[in-house]
Amino acid sequence: MDYVSVRVSTLRGDQKIDFNAYVKINEKMVLYLRQGDSFEGERLDRLKQKKLRKMYILTSEEPLYRRYLQQNIDMAYDTGSGKNINVRAEIIQGAQQANADEVFENPENVESYNNARDAAGKYVQFLMGNTQAVSAIMNIQNSDQSISHHGVTVATLAVALANRMGGIDSKKIQLMTLGALLHDYGHHDSALSLNRPLKSFSKEELALYLQHPQLGAQKIRDKKHFDQTVLHIISQHEEKVDGSGPLKLNESQQDPLAVIVATANALDRLITYEGVPKNDAPKRLMIQSVGAHPLMQIQHLAEVIKTTVT
Ligand SMILES: [Fe+2]
Ligand SMILES: [Fe+2]
Repeated sequence: MDYVSVRVSTLRGDQKIDFNAYVKINEKMVLYLRQGDSFEGERLDRLKQKKLRKMYILTSEEPLYRRYLQQNIDMAYDTGSGKNINVRAEIIQGAQQANADEVFENPENVESYNNARDAAGKYVQFLMGNTQAVSAIMNIQNSDQSISHHGVTVATLAVALANRMGGIDSKKIQLMTLGALLHDYGHHDSALSLNRPLKSFSKEELALYLQHPQLGAQKIRDKKHFDQTVLHIISQHEEKVDGSGPLKLNESQQDPLAVIVATANALDRLITYEGVPKNDAPKRLMIQSVGAHPLMQIQHLAEVIKTTVT
């Protein structure tokens, strides 16, 4: 039998699957979910908690899987589908996450990149066009602290922030979203354990950590299909407006879109990796990094977070 791997993040929503899904245990394929079942609820949570990111399907069933993906995403973006916003958000969040992983694993693949860029544009429309979309996305927990899920969260916060700031054209917002999605490429394959406060990092660990924006930028610099904005965001997203970031750039030397992503990123670092409750995170950010991010941006994000707390 021939199997191909599929990303667990694409298997979301309440639609029944018309293929069999397997997990690999000790080099053996074990049937996990059969045709006719769906991945909703507990089943998906269990997989996420186990940090299982790939499953397998029979190669012969790949067309069925592709059709499932397409139906899921069409339904999720269809405002008239009548589906619950949380189900739609889950599917769209998973698809964005899968796009990021696809680019991380195959940065040389132009088609994967272009697909992620187009999908980022659709994602912006989804966030801007539904009042509950931002909150539905923000309420999907990143329970396995994945870098790509964090990328989707940062992109979501950055779009909500840019929306409140106003005056940024939609093409720029699309590229900012893609940059935010991919911003932590430098952590992909990293041996550092990221899921703890930066304060607990040793001197050596912190030095290594501070290299990740440049590591990420290096991986794509020679790939001509990446947009400049995306490169800027990857390399500058840990900069601070007071010039105390890894590259010591001051605000006027930073891409304004990277400044927005940096603020959104600092906030989600607290929520996803430092265990700070969502409602406390903006205040914590304000106090702990005075002058590191534009105060006005943190205030806007505090308002965004307020609307997402259920
Ligand atoms: Fe980062
Ligand atoms: Fe990050």
